[in-house]
Amino acid sequence: MPTLLAIQASPRHEYSTSRKLSAVFVEKWLAAHPGGKVIERDLMKTNLPFVDLPWIGGAFTPPEQHSPESAAAIKISNDLVAELQAADRIIIGTPMYNFTIPAALKAYIDHIVRVGVTVVDNVGQLTGKKTTIILASGGDFRPGSPFEVYNQASGYLRQVLGFIGLTDLDILLADRARAGDAGETAVEQFGEAVSLAAAA
Ligand SMILES: Cc1cc2nc3c(=O)[nH]c(=O)nc-3n(C[C@H](O)[C@H](O)[C@H](O)COP(=O)(O)O)c2cc1C
Repeated sequence: MPTLLAIQASPRHEYSTSRKLSAVFVEKWLAAHPGGKVIERDLMKTNLPFVDLPWIGGAFTPPEQHSPESAAAIKISNDLVAELQAADRIIIGTPMYNFTIPAALKAYIDHIVRVGVTVVDNVGQLTGKKTTIILASGGDFRPGSPFEVYNQASGYLRQVLGFIGLTDLDILLADRARAGDAGETAVEQFGEAVSLAAAA
């Protein structure tokens, strides 16, 4: 049975555009893959520590040399990597914060980019896993928009996730979410694109 890993980064829970659209994605994916398994990785409930000295010791030395602190620090990273390895399909729902990604998602990325594990000799190891990102933003960053170049999130995510092998990657811009919050536009306007991505 295929496994979908659903990663969420918005703290706005029921108000969140990226979460609402991710829920549509998961529903459509399950409909297209009856019996499929969904692993939820909610970064607002995960409380990830930032990379620190014990983590670096754990990441760059063999397990038999790990101090108890390093072993504990790297276990979280190992668990997150194992989740990714077990997934056939990945969805990431995230807000844009200050033209890039929220700190919680950056902390997650710092845990999963592991030299010798997810990247070996500069070759990404997590290949063959189609990935969809739903990027919610208040502004309009569509191609041709005057603010397109302000979007530092899409290029960064494409680059860093590609580095670990997630090269089959689509980014859906759920832009102008502010208008959605004000009731001027509906989240549903993005629903069709999300449904198509989930079925692919
Ligand atoms: C701290 C913070 C920073 C934000 N920075 C940006 C930004 O740089 N560009 C933008 O278009 N919207 C920005 N927004 C608006 C959010 O991207 C927008 O509300 C989006 O819908 C959040 O995603 P969510 O609905 O899934 O929580 C920011 C919101 C917050 C709270």
